[in-house]
Amino acid sequence: MLTADSHDIVGEKICHHSAYSNTGTSLFRAMLRRWRWRLTRVFHPKQPLCLNIFVTSRCTFSCFYCSRNIRADSPGGNHLYQDRSDFRISDMSILLERYPSIKRVSFVGIGEPFLNEDLIPMARIAKERGKRVDVITNVSLLHRHWGEIAPNFDDVSISLHGLTAEELKRTAGVDAPMFDQFVSNVRHLCREERGINRAMIVRASVVTLRTDLNRLRRAAIFCAENGIQCLEVQNYLPYGLDDFKECVFDDDSQFITYLNGLIKEFIGVVEIVPPVLIKKDPRRMSWGCLSFFEVLRVDGIGHVCGCNRIMVPKPENGNFKECQDVWNNTYFLGFRRQWKSLRCLPDCCRWCPAAQ
Ligand SMILES: C[S@@+](CC[C@H](N)C(=O)[O-])C[C@H]1O[C@@H](n2cnc3c(N)ncnc32)[C@H](O)[C@@H]1O
Ligand code: SF4
Ligand code: SF4
Repeated sequence: MLTADSHDIVGEKICHHSAYSNTGTSLFRAMLRRWRWRLTRVFHPKQPLCLNIFVTSRCTFSCFYCSRNIRADSPGGNHLYQDRSDFRISDMSILLERYPSIKRVSFVGIGEPFLNEDLIPMARIAKERGKRVDVITNVSLLHRHWGEIAPNFDDVSISLHGLTAEELKRTAGVDAPMFDQFVSNVRHLCREERGINRAMIVRASVVTLRTDLNRLRRAAIFCAENGIQCLEVQNYLPYGLDDFKECVFDDDSQFITYLNGLIKEFIGVVEIVPPVLIKKDPRRMSWGCLSFFEVLRVDGIGHVCGCNRIMVPKPENGNFKECQDVWNNTYFLGFRRQWKSLRCLPDCCRWCPAAQ
């Protein structure tokens, strides 16, 4: 467990992106963010704002950096999602009824959401109820749902796990025909499907691998070729906790120079959103995470979690199928107390972008 000194919170903090652009606007945004989490921690919503659904535990890929592949004996072994579950439409209706406060429904989890046959009907219900609906996908199965994606999702985030057949094989363990399907699906999504609903946002994300920075350039070129206007560069999340050296830190001038060059190169073509850099010196962290105050993460068994990045739903956190007010159970109240006092925070938060 970590204990953050609250003195650090009030000290002068720089914006997450200030390594890339130290403009007045970014400092202003940082100030707003700081005030937002100060206020939210005191006057936090009495009910969740975001429903984060672990759609399925099954996947079509096996990415080596994914939390599906954490070693059980690593320090972060408890972040391995060990249950088997598929989220069901009836459970989503129950939760939307119980928590009208939910404004956004995110279909995510440690698996491929489009493997769950209830995904499209669930998205439809959420949208009909006026929620913002988003999904993160590896794109491998989108061809099963043409015509149904654009009307039901506001935001589709496509994960670029490999930009060539060889790279996809290396990172995700799948063969060349899967790469061809991936490319064909991205093209169809960006051309035909988006034509049905121009308001649907399609963006891409790529995980930074320090041993292969050029992967980011390949990702940007891929986005440019396929008309994807936004590429989010993700820092490496060290789920196993012993792999934190794979993260990019705020003193990595080589990375910062490389990314600044890339951002400039693609100006006007692809907006490259830089990753949050991990503070080398933990005393400079903001500990500005609001996840436990805003997000209800759920799986198909009913298990819950308040973290929307590294920690996973667990039986000991509570079960929304058995408890009417899981949002205020002892697990959530305990964690909110810890975040308010900034004492005894989980070790994984040290390496999480949300806490930098
Ligand atoms: C766990 S996946 C689930 C959704 C879907 N299977 C996919 O890959 O898009 C959600 C996101 O987590 C990202 N991710 C996986 N492992 C990561 C890691 N070690 N660090 C940062 N992001 C990671 C993936 O790139 C993906 O964008
Ligand atoms: S596709 Fe997504 S869930 Fe599946 S292994 Fe890769 S990162 Fe993990
Ligand atoms: S800082 Fe990250 S890992 Fe920690 S609770 Fe927030 S989202 Fe989860």
